[in-house]
Amino acid sequence: MNSPKITPADIRAMKARREKIAALTAYDFPTAKLLDECGVPLLLVGDSLGMVVLGYPNTTHVTMAEMEHHTRAATRAKPHALIGADLPFHAYDTPEQALANAQRLVAAGAEYVKAEGGREILPQVRAIIAAGIPFVGHIGMLPQHILEEGGKYRIKGRDDAGHAKLLDDAAALAEAGAFAVVLELVTPAVAKEITERFPFATIGIGSGPDCDGKILVTPDLIGTYPWFTPKFVKQELNAAEQIRDAVGRWKSAL
Ligand code: KIV
Repeated sequence: MNSPKITPADIRAMKARREKIAALTAYDFPTAKLLDECGVPLLLVGDSLGMVVLGYPNTTHVTMAEMEHHTRAATRAKPHALIGADLPFHAYDTPEQALANAQRLVAAGAEYVKAEGGREILPQVRAIIAAGIPFVGHIGMLPQHILEEGGKYRIKGRDDAGHAKLLDDAAALAEAGAFAVVLELVTPAVAKEITERFPFATIGIGSGPDCDGKILVTPDLIGTYPWFTPKFVKQELNAAEQIRDAVGRWKSAL
């Protein structure tokens, strides 16, 4: 493939052209390579790997060392896609810590970093962007705050206070210079409003049809983690079933 390397400016340009931005997670070399071959322009080594690869109950257990390990594996695919990584829970409590850990992810191969939160992490976001590291925000339902949410993934933006907080968080991330922002479980109306009002590309997950793009946890899309699939996901492949069938056939032919 001769397609050129995708940059944060290309992602913004896709928004300007109203070209839908497909984004998927990749935690290892073959997945990053395959998704790149499919022409997915934006890849994320998400801390969702904690659940769908490492078997933790949620993302709060994921460490920097685990993120670095998977970032190295996925970025060895050298994709044309822009590929970045999540800063895990408690890896960005202060601006100094956020920058040091963002630099570790960049050293592992990440071309951008993502962190959860809005105005409350503005000093951290500023420190990362001031060091020249492209940044993707993540607002709405924040999986790293699942324990504060009582273990429930709740939709955000339903009431006036939730709506106002989302707009304020979006304004903070726009002001800091995030080139894209994930909107997770945001009401479709608020996701549409943020998409129309701010210059960053909005990448929705469970947030309706009007974001600039959509992201999914790849195992949800292809069915390699069959024990839990979010309601909003339309699974395109039941790989678990195919694996069970293939192993069954192989065993019976021994
Ligand atoms: O960790 C992750 O995979 C994510 C995406 C779902 C946006 O943050």
